[in-house]
Amino acid sequence: MKAQLEQIRANALEKLQALNAEQELEELRVRVLGKKGELTGILKQLGSLSKEERPVVGQLANEVRAAVEAAIEEKRAALKAAAQELRLQKETIDVTMPGQLQEIGKIHPLTRVLEEVKEIFFGMGFSTVEGPEVEYDYYNFEALNIPKNHPARDTQDTFYINDNILLRSQTSPVQVRTMEQQKPPIRIIAPGRVYRSDEVDATHSPLFHQIEGLLVDKGVTMGDLKGTLEVFAKRLYGDEVQVRFRPHHFNFTEPSAEMDIMCFGCGGKGCRMCKGEGWIEILGCGMVHPNVLRNCGIDPEEYSGFAFGIGLERIAMRKYNINDMRLFFENDLKFLQSL
Ligand code: FA5
Ligand code: MG
Repeated sequence: MKAQLEQIRANALEKLQALNAEQELEELRVRVLGKKGELTGILKQLGSLSKEERPVVGQLANEVRAAVEAAIEEKRAALKAAAQELRLQKETIDVTMPGQLQEIGKIHPLTRVLEEVKEIFFGMGFSTVEGPEVEYDYYNFEALNIPKNHPARDTQDTFYINDNILLRSQTSPVQVRTMEQQKPPIRIIAPGRVYRSDEVDATHSPLFHQIEGLLVDKGVTMGDLKGTLEVFAKRLYGDEVQVRFRPHHFNFTEPSAEMDIMCFGCGGKGCRMCKGEGWIEILGCGMVHPNVLRNCGIDPEEYSGFAFGIGLERIAMRKYNINDMRLFFENDLKFLQSL
């Protein structure tokens, strides 16, 4: 029995040397020290020994148990330490590596200018309304006093979905939609995307943005219109800005005008950007035509109003001193970040 015990010890210690996973360690513990283990098996046979032999073998058995237990604990600690070391090595952070640059986005210049324009008109008591980009011919033209086959349609050719539905060529249809729903006094702006089959150049794009304005009340005059738009231009560009009103024709306003600002490319001398004119058109405007008021159920004898349509890209160009509208749509990050 003594020999068996020595054998168990020697075997266990040898196995311990070789193993290197916690799982195997536990298996070894159970095999040697467990309830049905090798050592327990020997202890169960102690009863069959003589009185003299029993304490001697019992003591040896205890020694073997203590030795194996100690060796197992030692190995367990060693395995843990090794695992820890390995993890530390794997998770090392190289503080000398260059960091990952987090790019911070910016609000697009067109959005920024739109926000500014809104603030200016909010300050004058206007509020914002919206209208659909896919619009009925009725709202885009007919109700604005532009019947089918009227030549005024030629300057605003657009994409037709069918005979009655099109991509709106201006934000003016929102005037009609608003007057159908609200009764005067009305003071709204309506920003949004519009579409035209215009050739792309430095100041034209087939997709662009307008900001419609409409004010209807009792006793509104052309003087109110000019005053409002001049204040708008000064708030946006500063008091030095030069504006001029030029007579024009729109079917839905009478009288009508266009407002120009002095060309910021040449200061009025004439250059490529203003096509030699010295001035750049930024909006169309006028007194709401009596027919349009009537189309919307508003009595032109009682009420009058003015309306305007600002080209957002045009005013943003001046704001940021850009001489080509295409820059706004090309998504060149170098350009966008420079503003
Ligand atoms: C109109 O669209 C009228 N609805 C404006 C209006 C509203 C008049 C209310 C009276 C009352 P016009 O076609 O001129 O008008 O366009 C208005 C502005 O949009 C222009 O002054 C210009 O700034 C801008 N614009 C016109 N065409 C383009 C284009 N292709 N690309 C970029 N901006 C444009
Ligand atoms: Mg025009």
